Amino acid sequence: MNPKRNIIIAVDGYSSTGKSTLAKHIAREIGYVYVDTGAMYRAVTYFAMIKGFIDEKHFDKESLIANLSEVNLSFKFNKGLGYAEIFLNGENAESFIRTMKVSNRVSQVAAVPEVRQKLVEQQQKMALKNGIVMDGRDIGTVVFPEAELKLFMTASTEERARRRFKEMRDNGVEIDYQSVLENVMLRDHLDTTRSDSPLVKAADAIEIDNSQLNVDETFALAMGYVKEKLLKT
Ligand code: DC
Repeated sequence: MNPKRNIIIAVDGYSSTGKSTLAKHIAREIGYVYVDTGAMYRAVTYFAMIKGFIDEKHFDKESLIANLSEVNLSFKFNKGLGYAEIFLNGENAESFIRTMKVSNRVSQVAAVPEVRQKLVEQQQKMALKNGIVMDGRDIGTVVFPEAELKLFMTASTEERARRRFKEMRDNGVEIDYQSVLENVMLRDHLDTTRSDSPLVKAADAIEIDNSQLNVDETFALAMGYVKEKLLKT
């Protein structure tokens, strides 16, 4: 496929709907850059944990805000993996940001307007040169309201918890299904009710409910929309 110009593809939606997998596949298929914005919020959460600003009992929001200038995030493409990994202050943070500890705290950090402002600015700069597929919660509503194609991913809560549970087990994490389900429900609640940039479907987004679809079927469905958009662009 040879699009006349680069477009922005926003992939938003609930956690564990396969947003990253889908966004990564689309980017690879059409030669675009893939950006995982959830990884950015997770990396800031990891920073806050290392600095002792957040743990299971307290969150010192003011100290995090005061030290935000110390957070330097970058992505480096990993040829072997076929996508970019996130670096926090020069160190690969991928293996630290997917833990349950980070998952349990990230919504609190993502609700801080100063954190969002810093990350949104960086995200907007990333699309200046490249065709981009960006996944997150607010890409089609806040980061790129003008994105040419917006996909909004949903699936039932139980199905999403099952997927996350399997993924964690496959990665060797000892966890029970009930804890994962509770984390998914809590994050849905926090993500949809926060006052700054809550998770909401943009009016012009195409909703994809993949409760009954596997990875390949979801990809085929989404690529239909992508091709249609690229042909018109
Ligand atoms: O996609 P993920 O599960 O890795 O995202 C982690 C958290 O970050 C999620 O609970 C919501 C938040 N997030 C956000 O608020 N805005 C984004 N653009 C991406 C993620």
